[in-house]
Amino acid sequence: MSPLIFRALLLLAICSFLTACSAADDFIRLPSDASRFFRNEGDDSVGTRWAVLIAGSNGYWNYRHQADVCHAYQILKKGGLKDENIVVFMYDDIAYNEENPRQGIIINSPTGSDVYEGVPKDYTGDEVTVNNFFAAILGNKTAITGGSGKVVDSGPDDHIFIYYTDHGGAGVLGMPTYPFLYADDLIDVLKKKHALGSYKSLVFYLEACEAGSIFEGLLPDGLNIYATTASNAEESSWGCYCPGDNPSPPPEYDTCLGDLYSVAWMEDSDVHNLRAETLHQQYELVKARTANDNYVYGSHVMQYGDIGLSEENIFLYLGTNPANDNFTFLAENSMKLHSKAVNQRDADLLHFWHKFRKAPEGSFRKNEAQKQFMEAMSHRVHLDQSINLIGKLLFGIENAHEVLNAARPARKPLVEDWSCLKSMVRTFETSCGPLSQYGMKHMRSIANICNAGITNEQMADASAQACVSIPAGPWSSLEKGFTA
Ligand SMILES: *[C@@H]1O[C@H](CO)[C@@H](O)[C@H](O)[C@H]1NC(C)=O
Ligand SMILES: *[C@@H]1O[C@H](CO)[C@@H](O)[C@H](O)[C@H]1NC(C)=O
Repeated sequence: MSPLIFRALLLLAICSFLTACSAADDFIRLPSDASRFFRNEGDDSVGTRWAVLIAGSNGYWNYRHQADVCHAYQILKKGGLKDENIVVFMYDDIAYNEENPRQGIIINSPTGSDVYEGVPKDYTGDEVTVNNFFAAILGNKTAITGGSGKVVDSGPDDHIFIYYTDHGGAGVLGMPTYPFLYADDLIDVLKKKHALGSYKSLVFYLEACEAGSIFEGLLPDGLNIYATTASNAEESSWGCYCPGDNPSPPPEYDTCLGDLYSVAWMEDSDVHNLRAETLHQQYELVKARTANDNYVYGSHVMQYGDIGLSEENIFLYLGTNPANDNFTFLAENSMKLHSKAVNQRDADLLHFWHKFRKAPEGSFRKNEAQKQFMEAMSHRVHLDQSINLIGKLLFGIENAHEVLNAARPARKPLVEDWSCLKSMVRTFETSCGPLSQYGMKHMRSIANICNAGITNEQMADASAQACVSIPAGPWSSLEKGFTA
């Protein structure tokens, strides 16, 4: 062993006794030889890197979520993870969608290249379910229905990265299939995974509206889990690279290409040596970029769980692209892109609107776009009015607004009784039709109905009065079942 390498190892050994290990970068300057040695050593000592990537939506107007997931896959692949260790959930209706101007190609930024190529199709279409997602995390093959059967078959030295992107609401995350994913069930799965002793540490990146509500008051310390979310418990997250924004997608695209928090962490990971960047550094950068124009077009990135883990290098989870070896993270040279962005919940309307605007006068396409726009709008009005009316019936005209919209104290979960929340959702949907994608917005109101001690019978009465019938139209169809 050369004296140089010996010295490097010695420093590493000393370093592991210090808590502020990140400071080591300030004094170790390794010639390239030793750094290569270092790296291989590091690779062996981290066990296996696993990842679960999931886009919770379908439909061309939600292009961006699957684009995000494909892009994340490319980062992991270039980082050195093997396909057998990356489990991908995506509906897979985008690349060959008839609306897609570049058939067989998905991009995640206006100037980006294809991110679709090579993405494993582990769970697609109706295989993208809460049940399969949980089974994959837990490594339980027998609980999987359909798909490739790939699961996170991890051991105690392994590191796991989970990335979810979609619509959400307070306490809930969307799925292209019903039911949706509820926060309490996700936390139970993470606790179970921890109890199995099958990871060393786990990082969870979550893009969704009101994403903070998935962990706030729910994710305990001590599970060796570090989570960051695109938004706090009470606000929307944001789509970006949307038609009409700056930067905007190529003109032939009528849909958003990415999401603000997601492209922030991915475009940072694309260009840096991730051995030299900590999760915390990335969190700060993503937080600054996602705040976008001082929160006019942005949201508050949050962190939860074992925050101390964020001193670790991103490399432990995502690997690193050897082509970036010489590009070390420096806060001052990081992207300070300002862009306009679109509220996650309005991105579908934006798509229908641009489709309508561009279609030739009198064409089938113009009529179709108009119909889609009107259907989405009337579904929104129906849900907003129904919840409003139910609130008034239950709490009186004066109090309804306040009770329905009350925020929870910090570090308190959305609802005390999650089974109440789920049964209230089913009761509502029995009379009024499914909440579907847009209706996740009203989860806080329904949670507050539980928190106020309303019984299921009272809720059933109020729902039946508010909704005389379930409206026709694709968004109100109960064909997929209840969302809870
Ligand atoms: C795996 O899933 C099956 C089916 O849901 C269940 O019966 C079994 O207990 C699970 N195994 C573990 C180890 O959790
Ligand atoms: C990094 O820099 C070194 C020294 O200048 C050079 O030899 C090496 O090829 C560079 N690596 C990459 C991936 O560009």
